[in-house]
Amino acid sequence: MSILKGKRILLIIGGGIAAYKSLDLIRRLRERGASVRAVMTAAAHQFVTPLSVGSLSGEKVNTDLFSLTDEADMGHIELSRSADMVVIAPATADLLAKMANGIADDLASTLLLATDKKVLAAPAMNLRMWLHPATQANIAVLQKRGVVLSGPDDGEMACGEYGPGRMSEPLAIVAAVEKVFAAGPTALPLPPGIGERPEKVSRGLAGKRVIVTSGPTHEPIDPVRYIANRSSGKQGHAIAAAAARAGADVVLVSGPVALADPPGVRTLHVETARDMLAAVSQSLPADIFISTAAVADWRVAATAQDKVKKTGEGAPVLTLVENPDILATVSRHHTLRPKLVVGFAAETADLIRHAKDKLARKGCDLIVANDVGTGTGVMGGDMNTVHIVDPAGVESWPQMNKENVAAKLVQLCAQRLVEAGK
Ligand SMILES: Cc1cc2nc3c(=O)[nH]c(=O)nc-3n(C[C@H](O)[C@H](O)[C@H](O)COP(=O)(O)O)c2cc1C
Repeated sequence: MSILKGKRILLIIGGGIAAYKSLDLIRRLRERGASVRAVMTAAAHQFVTPLSVGSLSGEKVNTDLFSLTDEADMGHIELSRSADMVVIAPATADLLAKMANGIADDLASTLLLATDKKVLAAPAMNLRMWLHPATQANIAVLQKRGVVLSGPDDGEMACGEYGPGRMSEPLAIVAAVEKVFAAGPTALPLPPGIGERPEKVSRGLAGKRVIVTSGPTHEPIDPVRYIANRSSGKQGHAIAAAAARAGADVVLVSGPVALADPPGVRTLHVETARDMLAAVSQSLPADIFISTAAVADWRVAATAQDKVKKTGEGAPVLTLVENPDILATVSRHHTLRPKLVVGFAAETADLIRHAKDKLARKGCDLIVANDVGTGTGVMGGDMNTVHIVDPAGVESWPQMNKENVAAKLVQLCAQRLVEAGK
């Protein structure tokens, strides 16, 4: 049985002499069990008729981007997505140029820009058109983007010249299509996090006060150098913004980051762990404290007043001392402990075990554990995969963008406050 059985092919027919061969291509594809929906460019009408194309494909032929009836029947976006693969035969120099440059000025080129499926092109043109540096540059761009080519072949041209530019024979195109399907999925996913529908945030925190920490801390060595970490602040800032959308009065205590202050949030800018603790303490009382910041565990015992210079007597030794533990300090506050204290555990190994230890050690109510090991792209990236660890167990959330982690976490916090009757 052919791999093409049940596959839906969107066939774009460009305006070239070889368009007559696309009629045979339709037959060959259908013989193997594929269905073929054809789209013809305006120029293609000069070479084959929609009547022959439609008769052979057994489906409606689409040609006009702005047809009211076609758009109501199957919109151009749906048309470009409903297929399993897009085949352009013949692919004219013009269609290839439009595709390489993202031009979408008719139905065929618009579909090619809107599709989320693999595209196979069977170029067909005069050899000088094919060899022209413009066409060759377009081909290089398209191949780099993953467009698969079938042909062109060498041979006698309709115009009498001989050379490369003849469209592949229909059976060769069919074989190339089969090869694409055999190679794996033909759908091209969007980059991670893009196109993810935002999680809804209800006004569950109206009247509540929330303190969020975010970003790294910088621990000075001397006036020009410091110890830091790779935290970008994206997750913490997203949580502060989500809490504000949920109706809370939010204080964001942020270490040095390259992000704008979130709207609707009071942002306090700090540099060191000690500054951060002071800002958090001054912002209490609060209903919820979410400690997202990657606070430096250690600082240099004595910051040099002047820039440390090379002395020729070897490297200086930095003596480190422990920084205050902001999460534990807030969790164990005798009088002003927030009703809900949430910590983050960024680990590179033994994630859940470390998170459970941290939960007990710091006395917080839940820990959001995330793997920040090399290659995860979490530190500084837009995506996060987190596990919610509390005394009752572990709940793992699928990978999502940091905005959605924030929205879900804020919803969870609102729900926890209600459950605890707080
Ligand atoms: C008789 C004739 C044959 C043509 N054959 C080809 C061809 O094989 N390949 C090509 O790229 N252009 C060919 N063209 C030029 C295209 O039809 C022209 O560039 C047109 O704008 C392409 O439109 P389309 O890409 O929307 O189909 C031919 C033109 C004529 C008049």
